[in-house]
Amino acid sequence: MTYDSCWLASNMGLTHFEVRGKTLITETINEELKQKTEQAETKKAIFSRFEDLSDAEQSIFDVFDIKDEGYVIKETDDALYVVGVQDKGVLYGMFHLLRLLAQKLELTGIEVVENPYNDVRMLNHWDNMDEKDFMGSVERGYAGHSIFFENCEIVKDKLRIKAYARLLASIGINSVSINNVNVHALESQLITKKFLPEVSEIAHIFRKYGVTLFLSVNYASPMTLGGMETADPLDAGVRAWWKKQLAEIYAFIPDFGGVVVKADSEGRPGPFTYGRTHADGANMLAEALAPYDGLVFWRCFVYDCQQDWRDRKTDRARAAFDHFMPLDGTFLDNVVLQIKNGPIDFQVREPLSPLLGGMKQTNQIMEFQVTQEYLGHAKDVCFLVPQWKTYFEFDTHAQGVGSTIDKIANGSLYGRQHGGVVAVANIGNDANWTGHKLAQANFFGYGRLIWNPSLTAEAIATEWIQLTFGHDDNVLMTVKEILLNAWPTYEKYTAPLSVGFMVQPHLHYGVNIEGYEYSKWGTYHFADCSGIGVDRTKATGTGYTHQYFEPNAKLYENIETCPDELLLFFHFVPYTHVLRSGKTLIQHIYDTHFEGVSDVENFIKQWDELEGLIDAESFINVQSRFKQQLDNAKEWRDQINTYFYRKSGIADEQGRTIY
Ligand code: GCU
Repeated sequence: MTYDSCWLASNMGLTHFEVRGKTLITETINEELKQKTEQAETKKAIFSRFEDLSDAEQSIFDVFDIKDEGYVIKETDDALYVVGVQDKGVLYGMFHLLRLLAQKLELTGIEVVENPYNDVRMLNHWDNMDEKDFMGSVERGYAGHSIFFENCEIVKDKLRIKAYARLLASIGINSVSINNVNVHALESQLITKKFLPEVSEIAHIFRKYGVTLFLSVNYASPMTLGGMETADPLDAGVRAWWKKQLAEIYAFIPDFGGVVVKADSEGRPGPFTYGRTHADGANMLAEALAPYDGLVFWRCFVYDCQQDWRDRKTDRARAAFDHFMPLDGTFLDNVVLQIKNGPIDFQVREPLSPLLGGMKQTNQIMEFQVTQEYLGHAKDVCFLVPQWKTYFEFDTHAQGVGSTIDKIANGSLYGRQHGGVVAVANIGNDANWTGHKLAQANFFGYGRLIWNPSLTAEAIATEWIQLTFGHDDNVLMTVKEILLNAWPTYEKYTAPLSVGFMVQPHLHYGVNIEGYEYSKWGTYHFADCSGIGVDRTKATGTGYTHQYFEPNAKLYENIETCPDELLLFFHFVPYTHVLRSGKTLIQHIYDTHFEGVSDVENFIKQWDELEGLIDAESFINVQSRFKQQLDNAKEWRDQINTYFYRKSGIADEQGRTIY
């Protein structure tokens, strides 16, 4: 099968090169580098670990603060150097150089020093080995089937995995879990001898690109695999079983990263069954992993998914904080809590989870979704880097002004040992990896942003466009404009002002305003004839606002100071309430929904002008998806506007068509 080599189809432009010592480049990239450097005109490039430099060279690079995975790219009188402390740093530096060359940026006199902002830079794959369609489905995946599993086993041809490992390294990703957090019967056996020989082959491929392999495990494995009667974390037999099982994994994969666990969440087994806490469960696994320096990524997506919609006091947004805050300080050092960016579930816009930074004595990583579960699948364009930037920049005030989420995620605010970011991947076996060609920008942007959260969305978009589509200025300007407006546009035509959901149940694409309104999932909007929104205030609502530090708690509590874009998340608001824009809520709903559709119409016009300027396959791919997006946007517009007109009885001031 042929597939898109994405942004790595770049041309190197160096005359010759030298790789010193035994670096990851020596093993994996050598041939390619050689080919690409043959015809060039610039001076020699030297790729080296610091320790493999001569004394004279070391004295040049001594002055730079290069951390474990960092690197320096520097031109001297004699050569262009890429120097890292570790193999990985050299590898990342090489990809940086490839980017610069492909972007045709000036290398003369270059001096770049890079260290990653986050230590853990991870992707979770929600891939199944299921029998359902034999190909290996991907939960919430919109880009074909799994690249890891097919026919209820691990793929035999692993070339695609190798290409993927290279993509990961090119954007600085250093950790990957390959199976769904909802671990089904077959995937639960990945940690057994039945599959470990092949899992270790994948680990080996990843290792060559500096990527560490993790597996999602079923909390109840001692029962389902071990035949035990319990999975009680305090049971000696259960603890011994995990130790034995992990020893077996490490016998096959000496640098196995550890496990990802979804426990007591959406029907998955967990320690609650035995009256134990999440700390009991996580620590049991941590103890078994500690001798090998393995980590437990324990997810905090824990809430009551059997809620009665009549119950207005139970608030899903509160759940993670309520469950985990009391456990702060009780987790072992190799436990890392994995916390979704928002308190609900990867919506178009949510406030930040108050658990991020709430816990001070516990390792945390923040979880994003690169796959567009609630953001248009791979049909509607939605460039997510601007959204992620708002998350990183949010000031929790946990330790006073400047306690931004990026410092909490990377562990620096509280001096935690482990920190970083993880996200649900958006790739599959589609030829272009991500289904929608422009969704590649999310994959690329994720890696680039978590390496350096201070990069702007615009800079990241520019890099991706130039590496992908080349150097035509029209292409650059147009695609950039589309990407940077994509998330605001999607926000305009879907559920208003952070109220969330209103999507087709289970599918999570397309409009269904009451799809979840009378369900058990705890995601309600409470629209009636007077207004809409969830009262999460302390004064009259669920009290969620007070899970935040001051002044955020007060800011959200008060309808006058609560940011408009989050208004319906925190308050039940009358349709006649006047927003900061001077518009009433109902008029805002009408206007944004008309605007959202006209934005998509503009995208289509802009894109059509690029015909002939970019490759035909990509052009058609995006063009055909825009058609689906337009249908989707119109359906959202008409249903939302009609619904709220009927609920409120208030007409659109501009008299546009509402049904
Ligand atoms: C969402 C998603 C599920 C997923 C879950 C999770 O609810 O719809 O498919 O399993 O998140 O994060 O575990």
